[in-house]
Amino acid sequence: MRIARWAAGIAAAVVLSTGGAGAEPVKVGLLLPYSSVYASLGEDITEGLALAIETFGAETGQEIELVREDTEVKPSVALAKARKLIYQDKVDMLVGPVASNVAGALRDFVDGVGMPMIIPNAGNDDLTGPKCSRWVLRTSFSNSQINRGMGPWLKAKGYETAYLMAADYAAGRQMMDAFRTAFEGAGGTIVGEDYPPLAETKDFAPYLAKARAAEPDLLYVFFAGGPAVQFVKQYDAFGLREDLQLAGAGWLTSPLQLPAEGEAAAGFIGALNYVPSIDTPVNAAFQDAFRARTGRIGSEYAVQGYDTGRLIVEALKATGGSAADKAALVDAMRAVHFEGPRGRLEIDPSTNNIVQDIFIFETRLVDGAVRQVVVDTLPAVRDPANGCVMDGR
Ligand code: PHB
Repeated sequence: MRIARWAAGIAAAVVLSTGGAGAEPVKVGLLLPYSSVYASLGEDITEGLALAIETFGAETGQEIELVREDTEVKPSVALAKARKLIYQDKVDMLVGPVASNVAGALRDFVDGVGMPMIIPNAGNDDLTGPKCSRWVLRTSFSNSQINRGMGPWLKAKGYETAYLMAADYAAGRQMMDAFRTAFEGAGGTIVGEDYPPLAETKDFAPYLAKARAAEPDLLYVFFAGGPAVQFVKQYDAFGLREDLQLAGAGWLTSPLQLPAEGEAAAGFIGALNYVPSIDTPVNAAFQDAFRARTGRIGSEYAVQGYDTGRLIVEALKATGGSAADKAALVDAMRAVHFEGPRGRLEIDPSTNNIVQDIFIFETRLVDGAVRQVVVDTLPAVRDPANGCVMDGR
């Protein structure tokens, strides 16, 4: 087996596993951000995916080649790169994207071409709801799957009013809508909301001042990547950590961002589809291998990449190593089951979204480091069809 590493930020084609069958390699096009606000997410997903292909790829009897392209978190760039990967590089499948707005822009194109696309992050509800497609499946989460359970959970803890704040694009809007519906349904009240622009906002002070003035019991947020670090530090510097409980989608204090956030992150209540402390042999093996490879704790992004790599391997095993028949390939992907670091991975064929446990955690200072401490688990959360009528082509 040949193993190769790449320099950060370079678009490169890398052959990761050789089964010695002598056939053309199976080509996987990675359509992820390697620059801009979500660059660290794209890198973590790529490392996780490469680790899975290196670990399991030889089982397919096929060479698997990864071809990277940078979406820059821009829908038009991602669409151009998708065309390049499909028509020039002749990839057999796409893995991407990270951001919900980019996913929305890619959907009709991959659906029309008939190209399998595995989403290893972007949570856009529409893509496993009214705009679902047989060709688009998701190993990560839907935006509402992560946030829905937090409404009744926080209300039951005694929080009566909440103020919403999220990055101003499809993901932020969908997550806040899911929380709002669930929180109001449980009897809570939303007293205000605000949506700072995704890439441009460096100064959260005016937004934090408005939130404080509304005097809510809770500030419920979605920020990820670079903006998550900036938000957490400014919330702390603003003196809000003592006054106003912070809660939200758990990426705010991802293990990927915690080293940069430090103690400022302590006290947050979040929900996520993975925490590194899951106590299973499969998770321990993943964490050991990921740390040996990168020197970092494996985040939920890394796990989503790793499970995507494993899903590709399992699907190729089911097709005898062939990616030639795209319809057979995508059907094999949809039927895959295995135990991953999160637990049992299962794609619901009626929406193509993953079914998984959601963990509610608090970030606490434990032995001098800020960690996610699980306080509750919502088991096997499955999205409703949400308008999805799956095309059986
Ligand atoms: C999204 O745009 O769907 C998105 C991005 C980053 C996250 C979660 C969701 O951490």
